[in-house]
Amino acid sequence: MTINSGPGRYALFGHPVSHSWSPFIHGMFARQFDHVVDYKVQDVEPGDFRHAVINFFVQGGGGANVTLPHKPAAAEIVNDLSARAERARAVNTIVRRSPTELYGDNTDGVGLVTDLTRNLGVSLEGSRLLILGAGGATRGVLAPLLEQEPREVRIANRTPERAKGLRDEFSDLGEISASGFSEVEDLPWDVVINATAASLAGEVPELPPRAIGHDTVCYDMAYGRGDTAFMRWSAERGSKRAYKGWGMLVEQAAESYLLWHGVRPETRPVMGALERL
Ligand SMILES: NC(=O)c1ccc[n+]([C@@H]2O[C@H](COP(=O)([O-])OP(=O)(O)OC[C@H]3O[C@@H](n4cnc5c(N)ncnc54)[C@H](OP(=O)(O)O)[C@@H]3O)[C@@H](O)[C@H]2O)c1
Repeated sequence: MTINSGPGRYALFGHPVSHSWSPFIHGMFARQFDHVVDYKVQDVEPGDFRHAVINFFVQGGGGANVTLPHKPAAAEIVNDLSARAERARAVNTIVRRSPTELYGDNTDGVGLVTDLTRNLGVSLEGSRLLILGAGGATRGVLAPLLEQEPREVRIANRTPERAKGLRDEFSDLGEISASGFSEVEDLPWDVVINATAASLAGEVPELPPRAIGHDTVCYDMAYGRGDTAFMRWSAERGSKRAYKGWGMLVEQAAESYLLWHGVRPETRPVMGALERL
């Protein structure tokens, strides 16, 4: 695999993408190694995505991140996929092997698991894990979460059929059940991960009232300034541990940086800077 240790151009492709913190994060990473890295966002509509990515690499781009809604399309563009990207059928990191040979990986799952287990000290082994949402984010993190050997995994989604589709697709990796929100057992879960886009609209999935208890760890993949709607809602239901997805964002970015440059940056200073913002 090509490791780009020198100066280089990097990009995040998404739509919309102007709100992204990735340029800030990669800028802080680069300073840790005195790398000169030019990392910019590129807002590209789905119809233009393929052309924009190929153009970027033909013109010397060193690597790219991919976010909503392009992750599945990115998996179709690259020449080779990591096992985890193939399983997720979604790519968030493209590595240039040559101007015409691109490798796709997905670092979202390892980013989430690292944040939960290493940064936050949450053990998933033997836990009862409830995942809300059945979109691209859930698809990307399911296999790495199942590797942690939770006792039980429930995927609950506004559209239950999508949750059931993921259950069927990943059931060879562990014990998974699927339902709508209202059918979730009304008993405290050990860990609840909100992988819906509801927080972006200030909304919260309509779970039964006792699904969150004092000891439930609540993790919202969404992030931004202040607490998310899901964090506030979880705290109102008594959860003493509610987090947002900054850590996942930074950890998945560190894994991308490792793939491109061969070194993994320290993530704590970046998370500290984001918290201070
Ligand atoms: N921290 C990170 O690094 C990171 C990484 C990836 C994603 N994320 C975040 O994860 C979230 C989901 O992203 P995604 O890529 O999975 O998006 P997606 O593919 O568009 O899926 C969206 C999911 O949210 C559900 N949903 C949307 N609005 C809802 C509402 N008002 N109430 C209940 N459910 C709702 C959808 O349900 P239906 O199936 O019924 O439509 C679907 O399950 C976003 O907030 C994104 O920013 C964070």
